[in-house]
Amino acid sequence: MKRAIRANFDESASAYDAYEARTGRFAALAERLAAEMEPRGRVLDAGAGTGASAAAFATSADALVALDASLGMLRENPTERRVVGDFDRLPFRDATFDAVAFTASLFLVPEPAAAVAEAKRILRPGGVVGAVALDGWTVHGGDALAGLDRESRSPASTDEVVAALDSAFETTTGTWSFDSSGDDLRAFHAIPALAARLYPELPTDERVVRATETLADVEGPLEQHWRWVVGRVA
Ligand SMILES: C[S@@+](CC[C@H](N)C(=O)[O-])C[C@H]1O[C@@H](n2cnc3c(N)ncnc32)[C@H](O)[C@@H]1O
Repeated sequence: MKRAIRANFDESASAYDAYEARTGRFAALAERLAAEMEPRGRVLDAGAGTGASAAAFATSADALVALDASLGMLRENPTERRVVGDFDRLPFRDATFDAVAFTASLFLVPEPAAAVAEAKRILRPGGVVGAVALDGWTVHGGDALAGLDRESRSPASTDEVVAALDSAFETTTGTWSFDSSGDDLRAFHAIPALAARLYPELPTDERVVRATETLADVEGPLEQHWRWVVGRVA
């Protein structure tokens, strides 16, 4: 599954950047996460993508390292220190980071507990980890995707992400909600890697077309919800 996720993101950089240019959502999530984490010192932007999350962490870090499994995403990232790598086998020595931030990335792995164990391994005493995971879209308080012909799954549920962090760190958590729209929802699912949440089995082009068709009639004042968790090394 991880190979498929990486391949899907390799094809996603331009649609990803189009969504980010439209909404600024990933930069906003990273700013909120950084405000909760207060990262200092050597910071890992884990699942750094094309760089939307970088500025939020670069501000307070002495050194920022951007890591991603997808070269297609990472090559667009302006961060100076960039590393291709997988959350499950981080290519760093033990206790070499002060903060690890997963902005919209930890819910994309099949086993968040393995990634969390790796984050803990590379953190120094007193270090901090943060994650933000998509927790759904609502319209007038109900599931905006209810009744549509789709799967709408992440490799890991938000609850699994929270549980993995809870079992390894002393955590605080909460939810952020953003005003959104049917067009935002469609732009989000025009990103091939995120359309894969709806139709994981379809080839890229068909998947995006199918997602666009399925979501064509979703309208109204939508809200997009994200669950955040911050954990500290005891
Ligand atoms: C939704 S994007 C978020 C990118 C960036 N943090 C942002 O806020 O714009 C998720 C990123 O996580 C990366 N990713 C997913 N699974 C990964 C894994 N197992 N190891 C490393 N990176 C992974 C993807 O390649 C993708 O670039």
